[in-house]
Amino acid sequence: MKSKIDQISKEITSLKASTIDEVEKLRIKYLGKKGIISDLFKEFRELEPDLKREVGAHLNLLKKTVTETIDTLKENIEKSSGNQKKVNIDLSLQEPSFNFGTRHPISLVKRELLEIFKKIGFSIYEGPEIEDDWHVFSALNFPEEHPARDMQDTFFIEKNPDVLLRTHTSSVQVRSMENEKLPIRVVCPGRVFRNEAISARAHCIFHQIEGLYIDKNVSFADLKQTLLFFAQEMFGKETKIRLRPSYFPFTEPSAEMDVSCNLCGGKGCSVCKYTGWLEVLGCGMVDPNVLEFNGIDSKKYSGYAFGMGLERIAMLKYQVKDLRLYFENDTRFLEQFTNY
Ligand code: DAH
Repeated sequence: MKSKIDQISKEITSLKASTIDEVEKLRIKYLGKKGIISDLFKEFRELEPDLKREVGAHLNLLKKTVTETIDTLKENIEKSSGNQKKVNIDLSLQEPSFNFGTRHPISLVKRELLEIFKKIGFSIYEGPEIEDDWHVFSALNFPEEHPARDMQDTFFIEKNPDVLLRTHTSSVQVRSMENEKLPIRVVCPGRVFRNEAISARAHCIFHQIEGLYIDKNVSFADLKQTLLFFAQEMFGKETKIRLRPSYFPFTEPSAEMDVSCNLCGGKGCSVCKYTGWLEVLGCGMVDPNVLEFNGIDSKKYSGYAFGMGLERIAMLKYQVKDLRLYFENDTRFLEQFTNY
């Protein structure tokens, strides 16, 4: 009988089943009423008491091992079929790619612009969006009756007409003159606000970058060379610039700069309205009044300034036809830009 027990012990180490039915068959074969183990117990009952003592422990151990083995087989099958129901993994499916967001075109243009001016010694200077009349208008030589001071063009705070949202980043020129030691060479990026009806060509919020350089002997030639460098870095080495006389209260003389159309190479197309030129920025020599208002001796120092709209530059660079796209956060538009 002992050798029978040993043989069955060996046999059960290699029991296999792949379905619940197969496990059930094994259970009946070994543990059923007429199964192998109950036959052994029948045999056991017939044994001499001495032998019973010797064989009993082995037989009980065998019964326990068979029960555990069959239970484990059943559990394993239940586990794997249960998992399949819950998760239902298709191993042939491709892993979905991880989508990074993209950078906003205004951020891309801003970064590129600041990098260009950093190369030629400009540092970044920022000022507040909520300003006062002095920094936005008076210190920049705006006459009392200038239309920009009108409620129609500027957002004022009702309770205090001296508080307003800046209409241009030229206000940061004034702050840098107040706070920085000469010479000053800064670029000032930021949001600006104007009381305009929203359309494809105008918005009540937009972005500008202001540039200011004040030192001894700064001339219009320095301004022109700086702007040419910027235009060729931004729009390509072939780019030409053109300066047209203009008027701003804070510069004298004042000019507007056009760049040769980078789409048609200056030949004329619908983007440049068949002129071959695209208007890009305003600039000029800082008006001596502005230097004096800010405590700078205009006999010793001179300077140039320029200011441009980032939306305008991004429109030219990426062929964007409607300003509103910049503010609507439509991912179909935003996804077209890079994420680095
Ligand atoms: N502040 C002007 C605007 O918002 C832009 C500008 C023109 C800035 C000429 C300047 C400048 O510094 O010299 O339209």
